[in-house]
Amino acid sequence: MQLATQAQEIMKMANFTLHHLPLACLLLLSAPLIAFATSIPEGFLQCLSLHCENTTPISEFVYTPINSSYSSVLNITIQNLRFLTPYTPKPLFIVTPLHVCHVQAATICSRWYGLQIRIRSGGHDYEGLSYLSEVPFVIIDMVNLRSVAVNVEDKTAWVESGSTVGELYYRIAEKNRTLGFPASVCPTVGVGGHFSGGGYGMMLRKYGLAADNIIDAQLVDAQGQLQDRESMGEDLFWAIRGGGGGSFGVVVSWKVKLVPVPSTVTVFSPLRTLEQNATKLVHQWQLVANKLPDDLFMRVILWSDNSGPNGTRTMKAIFSTLYLGGVDALLEVMKSGFPELNVTRQDCIEMSWIESVLYFAGFERGSPLEVLLNRSSNTKSFFKDKSDYVKEPIPESGIEGMWKRFYEEDERVPIMIWSPYGGKMAEISESAIPFPHRAGVLAGVLYKILYITDWTNGGNEVAPKHVSWIRDFYCYMTPYVSKSPREAYINYRDLDIGTNNVIGNTSYEQASVWGKKYFKNNFGSLVLVKTAVDPHNFFRHEQSIPPL
Ligand SMILES: Cc1cc2nc3c(=O)[nH]c(=O)nc-3n(C[C@H](O)[C@H](O)[C@H](O)COP(=O)(O)OP(=O)(O)OC[C@H]3O[C@@H](n4cnc5c(N)ncnc54)[C@H](O)[C@@H]3O)c2cc1C
Ligand SMILES: *[C@@H]1O[C@H](CO)[C@@H](O)[C@H](O)[C@H]1NC(C)=O
Ligand SMILES: *[C@@H]1O[C@H](CO)[C@@H](O)[C@H](O)[C@H]1NC(C)=O
Ligand SMILES: *[C@@H]1O[C@H](CO)[C@@H](O)[C@H](O)[C@H]1NC(C)=O
Ligand SMILES: *[C@@H]1O[C@H](CO)[C@@H](O)[C@H](O)[C@H]1NC(C)=O
Ligand SMILES: *[C@@H]1O[C@H](CO)[C@@H](O)[C@H](O)[C@H]1NC(C)=O
Ligand SMILES: *[C@@H]1O[C@H](CO)[C@@H](O)[C@H](O)[C@H]1NC(C)=O
Ligand SMILES: *[C@@H]1O[C@H](CO)[C@@H](O)[C@H](O)[C@H]1NC(C)=O
Ligand SMILES: *[C@@H]1O[C@H](CO)[C@@H](O)[C@H](O)[C@H]1NC(C)=O
Repeated sequence: MQLATQAQEIMKMANFTLHHLPLACLLLLSAPLIAFATSIPEGFLQCLSLHCENTTPISEFVYTPINSSYSSVLNITIQNLRFLTPYTPKPLFIVTPLHVCHVQAATICSRWYGLQIRIRSGGHDYEGLSYLSEVPFVIIDMVNLRSVAVNVEDKTAWVESGSTVGELYYRIAEKNRTLGFPASVCPTVGVGGHFSGGGYGMMLRKYGLAADNIIDAQLVDAQGQLQDRESMGEDLFWAIRGGGGGSFGVVVSWKVKLVPVPSTVTVFSPLRTLEQNATKLVHQWQLVANKLPDDLFMRVILWSDNSGPNGTRTMKAIFSTLYLGGVDALLEVMKSGFPELNVTRQDCIEMSWIESVLYFAGFERGSPLEVLLNRSSNTKSFFKDKSDYVKEPIPESGIEGMWKRFYEEDERVPIMIWSPYGGKMAEISESAIPFPHRAGVLAGVLYKILYITDWTNGGNEVAPKHVSWIRDFYCYMTPYVSKSPREAYINYRDLDIGTNNVIGNTSYEQASVWGKKYFKNNFGSLVLVKTAVDPHNFFRHEQSIPPL
């Protein structure tokens, strides 16, 4: 804190701005100067305060480890408790910009002092890449930049990257109940990371991904320049809509196209046990879920517990469904499309779209919409997740093999969520944005699997057991899922599938191991964009796009 004040004084006396620093020098910096960096944090603070004149004193938005709030600011949005330990590497500084200029200053000064930056919006990264690094680093935490400006006439909104999707949904509903946006089921996810990696929710089959509905963006690039769609050009604008966060710059805000939603939607979540033919139903679901009308999105959530006969282990399947229409139409659709599920009127609830957001987020019926503004409403846990894409239905024997493996793990620890594609997802070309998992040339995606192991009992001590279970399970699934490459969803970040070198000299071949899984042939185009806009690889992490 004293350092910050000092820097402020120096700035005032010197009446000097960073623009006077030779930009050519900044551009020449490439490899991180690690030893240099740790020894001169003071210079970093000075640099920050010099850059943005006439704004807020840096003591109001920069936290150093000696500040009493540092630890709570750091911990607050860490979702995965596996990375919330005293041994997790901590940042030298946390910058929480109040103005775009602070983002620019943090970028320029981190680069000048050879510090790596980690950008954090909602902190939901599965592997903690937004707030931890093995080399000296600074967190730019977008939490204070979270205004949402909804324009109902245009049906658009500008949303700053520190907003959560819950805040976005709330601000839209506040203005108009028949407009919505197709993004995350979980409201605490940050739009900064979420839209950068694609982003999907219950309207996936009707409107595609969040990233499919972005029409402009503001980004601070590796030179610290603020760019919009027009000035950054279509290649970079393409790359940031699905190419993954933390590779191309700091997204400050997104302009999105809102989508129409009916005034009444219908939800239902019937639960089926093995005794109620869950295995057959899940098998059948694979044949129909991607072919049902686009207005219907039916995910399957699967887990195991001890509620079988005489307290034995059994499987449960919930068919969690949103229909963009009323119950009468829905029952017709179900009768012709998936009669085996035997959905009845009693299973269904009609409500507004925004109420359905609360319903799928797990809030009690009748909760005020304001719960969407609670950035910590989501319960934190220890977890390790993985993803797969399925292109051919898995036979019943394969499904029964999954159940067997579920029974070997603790009850309720593993969960699978199967999300059907088809509809709009199959209409968009594989290269329209970097997210490639669409209809395919030979075989299209039927559905995506999210594998979760999620626990609180036992903390990190039991992590090896659970992580090893999910890796074995992933191995078991090999014959049933996409191949060459085995595709994965970047927003379900998984460092098991490959990583870069932490010092930043990753080769194209090394990165393409994980890169092709997330992006297929779009990986090559992402590398070309990266080479053009950040050739010195300033924005980097374990799975960032490398330059050539
Ligand atoms: C409980 C939970 C529920 C989820 N539900 C869904 C879901 O329904 N649908 C879905 O698609 N995904 C879901 N996800 C995954 C989620 O989309 C990703 O974890 C997403 O990347 C989170 O974004 P964030 O801003 O919260 O995360 P962060 O951890 O802040 O960031 C994620 C990545 O993006 C980078 N980044 C963050 N902000 C910016 C920025 N402003 N500019 C550039 N790069 C940035 C980070 O450096 C990091 O690499 C869920 C995750 C969790 C933990
Ligand atoms: C750091 O702590 C001091 C008090 O110790 C406080 O005045 C200052 O505002 C804090 N900085 C931030 C960014 O909160
Ligand atoms: C933040 O988490 C760390 C690691 O578990 C812990 O030591 C610290 O006390 C936490 N800080 C606060 C304010 O809770
Ligand atoms: C809400 O948006 C819809 C679709 O754009 C429009 O038809 C309707 O008039 C709007 N309603 C209000 C109250 O603004
Ligand atoms: C399970 O399937 C069998 C045969 O297909 C059928 O007769 C039975 O009614 C089903 N049970 C339930 C609970 O749906
Ligand atoms: C449950 O336990 C009772 C008493 O031990 C036994 O008679 C019955 O057969 C068991 N049922 C099943 C389905 O295993
Ligand atoms: C369908 O559900 C209804 C109501 O729950 C039930 O009465 C009926 O037996 C079920 N039919 C089948 C075939 O399972
Ligand atoms: C936000 O959600 C958390 C977790 O459910 C809860 O403990 C907290 O009280 C909520 N905060 C507010 C302001 O409602
Ligand atoms: C990256 O650097 C490491 C350590 O210096 C070295 O061993 C490795 O060969 C380098 N990789 C490439 C692709 O240059």
